[in-house]
Amino acid sequence: MKTDAGYAKQAVLEVKAVKKYFPIRKGFLQRTAGYVKAVDDVQFAIRPGETFGLVGESGCGKTTLGRCILRAVEPSSGEVLFRDRKGMMRNVLELDRRELRAIRRDMQLIFQDPYSSLNPRMTVFNIIAEPLVCNGLMGGSELKQRVSSLMEMVGLNSRHLERYPHAFSGGQRQRIGIARALATDPSFIVCDEAVSALDVSVQAQILNLLEDLQADLNLSYLFISHDLGVIQHISDRVGVMYVGKMVETAETESLFASPRHPYTEALLSAKPIPDPRHKSDRIILSGEVANPANPPTGCYFHPRCPYAKELCRQEAPEMKAVGDGHYAACHFAGELELRGAAGL
Ligand SMILES: Nc1ncnc2c1ncn2[C@@H]1O[C@H](COP(=O)(O)OP(=O)(O)O)[C@@H](O)[C@H]1O
Ligand code: SF4
Ligand SMILES: [Mg+2]
Repeated sequence: MKTDAGYAKQAVLEVKAVKKYFPIRKGFLQRTAGYVKAVDDVQFAIRPGETFGLVGESGCGKTTLGRCILRAVEPSSGEVLFRDRKGMMRNVLELDRRELRAIRRDMQLIFQDPYSSLNPRMTVFNIIAEPLVCNGLMGGSELKQRVSSLMEMVGLNSRHLERYPHAFSGGQRQRIGIARALATDPSFIVCDEAVSALDVSVQAQILNLLEDLQADLNLSYLFISHDLGVIQHISDRVGVMYVGKMVETAETESLFASPRHPYTEALLSAKPIPDPRHKSDRIILSGEVANPANPPTGCYFHPRCPYAKELCRQEAPEMKAVGDGHYAACHFAGELELRGAAGL
């Protein structure tokens, strides 16, 4: 059985008890009136070459967790252990500015929106070269060669490097974003809704590209998406978040075939509805998502859970092992018979 400890031993990334509470400020004096518990005590690990999919409804804390790992937002507490180029596990949250800058070469981010994430006034050459130039890693003909080879690595024509982003399609812009993320030769990439803004046929091409690059470069991905189809396609393991907490983690096949948390069962049975504003489908479940500024008592899912009992209102469930590499935070995970995905 692959235990969490087993994963942690060979992990490229280990997230321990990470919390991010955003203060809610009120009134003239901007006093702190409470906290949005966007990420609340999350724990998981990622192995080299693995894709860990992170799924959950909008607002459950996926983006905040990804940004905490890269320290693009400062977590309130916890540890983010990351294996650096020398093979040492370093706590990203304890690094000083210089060390952080160095380790950021190894951990990169691919954004959702290929339209707004590329500077429209920069040529593609400068966009891809920027991380190399800023880190003082190369210049001159070496830089030119590297940028050309990155362009080709993502399936674009290196003769188009002097063009501006507007000359490219959405899928091509996402490829440029990927080339830029790869420039400093990272080992780990956070892909936050990286294909959600693209048409389905283009989505498939970008997912295939990410898979090919992973195999060639031994990359590890934290792949964030609200789209279960995409998550199932690309992930080796999956984590399900609900109101800032990780409620289930498992190998992809096991999670989709036999979920052990009632929230995962509900997600798998929910129909995505087309959302014309976001050009992507959102998951719609019955009942309202709990408010992360004022969550319910006990298990946060209890007001929406068809299996809730008195204990669920009183006590928060801990994450427990429930089978081969499968973990769930539900008091009754061991006894409930839940339905897996039918049509996915
Ligand atoms: N900078 C911020 N200040 C205050 N609240 C925030 C901030 N960023 C995110 N949040 C809140 O944190 C929660 C999680 O948001 P987010 O991480 O974006 O979720 P997801 O990516 O799963 O949709 C939401 O309730 C959101 O409103
Ligand atoms: S702990 Fe209770 S309320 Fe929470 S998911 Fe399990 S059965 Fe449902
Ligand atoms: Mg998000």
